[in-house]
Amino acid sequence: MHQLFHFLIIGVLVGLTACTEPPQATQPQYEVVTDIHHTMELIIDPATDVIWSSAGSIITAAGEQDLAPTTAEEWAKVESAAAVLAESGNLLMMPGRSAGSDWNEYARGLISSGKLAMVAAEQQDADALFDAGGLIYQACLACHNQYLVEQDTQ
Ligand code: HEC
Repeated sequence: MHQLFHFLIIGVLVGLTACTEPPQATQPQYEVVTDIHHTMELIIDPATDVIWSSAGSIITAAGEQDLAPTTAEEWAKVESAAAVLAESGNLLMMPGRSAGSDWNEYARGLISSGKLAMVAAEQQDADALFDAGGLIYQACLACHNQYLVEQDTQ
């Protein structure tokens, strides 16, 4: 009888400490700062611009111009933009931004293609950067095909 009473007391104490545990201790407090429109406009698009404007070549009046970076500083800028782009895949998958499993798959496409661009920039490999740029384009398009169309028809 006495022992059962002890168990009850301990049970109540354990219950109390469990209740006073702050929820932050187990779950990070994510805060969605930019909506999808601003995530595209302020984070993803500028980073992508840096990569695409450093990959491949353009034809000008003066002939074909290679866009690949020529200095370590320029390559470092591309690597930084590629890191932003790769991590932005995680941003798109955050609770509050994700629109479901298809969405998450397209967002993961940004992570994988962004990582390839990072490696290409780190190794200063212009051909690999061009290929990564193409994969990035496909990742953007895949998601826009599904989710921009859905938005337009609303
Ligand atoms: C996981 C889905 C997804 C991926 C991946 C994605 N986008 Fe978007 N994007 C959207 C959606 C949804 C919108 C429409 C947002 C809105 O206006 O509400 C959008 C809109 C945009 C816009 C127009 C901005 C606006 O809303 O006016 C630009 C520019 C853009 N995306 C660039 C890109 C680029 C560049 C990439 C690839 C590097 C990319 N996006 C990848 C979902 C995605």
